[in-house]
Amino acid sequence: MTEAILRQIINYAHRADPYPLYEELRKTPVYHDADGPFVLSRYYDIQSLLHDPRISSDARNLKTPATANPLAAEADDETALPPSFLRLDPPEHDRLRRMTNRPFGPPHSPRRVHEMHGELKDIVSGLIDGIDNPDRIDLVDQFSYPFPVTVICRLLGVPREDEARFHSWADTIAASLDPDPGADTDERAKVSHNARTELGMYLAGLIEERRKKPGADMLSQLSTAGGPDGVMTTMEVLSTAALLLIAGHETTVNLITNGMLTLLRNPDVLERLRKDPNLAVPVVEELLRFEPPVQLVPQRTTLTDIEVRGVTIPKGASLWLVLAAGNRDPDRFEDPDRFDPDRGDIQHLGFGSGIHSCFGAPLARLEAQLALSELARRLENPRLLEDPPPYRQNAVLRGPRHLPIACDGIRP
Ligand code: HEM
Repeated sequence: MTEAILRQIINYAHRADPYPLYEELRKTPVYHDADGPFVLSRYYDIQSLLHDPRISSDARNLKTPATANPLAAEADDETALPPSFLRLDPPEHDRLRRMTNRPFGPPHSPRRVHEMHGELKDIVSGLIDGIDNPDRIDLVDQFSYPFPVTVICRLLGVPREDEARFHSWADTIAASLDPDPGADTDERAKVSHNARTELGMYLAGLIEERRKKPGADMLSQLSTAGGPDGVMTTMEVLSTAALLLIAGHETTVNLITNGMLTLLRNPDVLERLRKDPNLAVPVVEELLRFEPPVQLVPQRTTLTDIEVRGVTIPKGASLWLVLAAGNRDPDRFEDPDRFDPDRGDIQHLGFGSGIHSCFGAPLARLEAQLALSELARRLENPRLLEDPPPYRQNAVLRGPRHLPIACDGIRP
């Protein structure tokens, strides 16, 4: 394989279709060149490393400077929040994840996500109702982008009147995760730093209010709920809230946008979904395999020398786990380059696996299922205006920057 493969993956020219490069990469299952990371691309290798306690998520264990991880960018900023649990190892990771899970999922809050169903549906309907010109819709700006951030606001308990401010900070932070070669980097860093600081100050104020007068929202519960692990410090609540916002924003935007793009390229499936909203469940799972919003996990470190397929990866090395390549590994999935929601077995790597597997997965799934089934039902004869659409720069959190579509009208 040529040395250039990693550079090719990062190269924007390949953003619309990186899959032939991943096929090339899989031919060298443990790929390493010069000072670069060790790159893993086979399904079973990735799966097993995600469960391996000799692999760390804590950047402090890296021997060489960390490769930027857009999923974790909140911890790199000098606003100096402590690292969120995404970037910690056990036992700290487990303690914070358990405490965050108390108000979010089973066993203590088994109905939390389910109970958001009606509210999510209303947000989706409101956004579709707001589409004024069916001849040219930008699905990203008009739908996929505003949806997840509104959902996080409702989950955390951000008052309605503050949502617009929250959206604007979230947008600035999300944009800072997408390198823009034409932009003034110092200026961008400053703008993003200011947004993080303002968001942090805003959330700190809200936490203080909720400590005095708790409500039913997640911020109140994170700030006050005591279990066997005690109560989170204000800094821990802040970094956890920032993690929920950042990890759940761009990822969900891309799942919905990749989803609509894939459906428009597979009109038979779109038509079936229009008639049967239950098809959204396997459609979303197959999308997480076929076009995963997190293409690779770029920040893992070996805590000791480990051997994979006869190659020794030394202690302190940086690993890249290319989820999107593993998801199309022919040793795992039959006919992997075909989008097929009817394949019975879709154990994809789209949400990672092991102790760091996506915390927000139940919410992300519900958001995407509702969004895609409602778009399929309500847009009359939808079609793509550009194929491929323009993509964001980001090779890790990969997805279209815009998705221009047209339709004949909006059904009630
Ligand atoms: C389609 C949408 C999403 C995708 C594809 C996605 C993907 C992922 C992946 C691949 C990881 C593992 C990272 C690693 O192993 O280092 C992860 C972790 C995480 N995700 Fe998601 N995510 C999505 C939505 C969300 C949402 C909506 C939330 C919050 C409500 C969220 C919160 C988190 C958190 C907190 C972690 C860290 C878990 C840990 O370290 O224990 N994600 N996500």
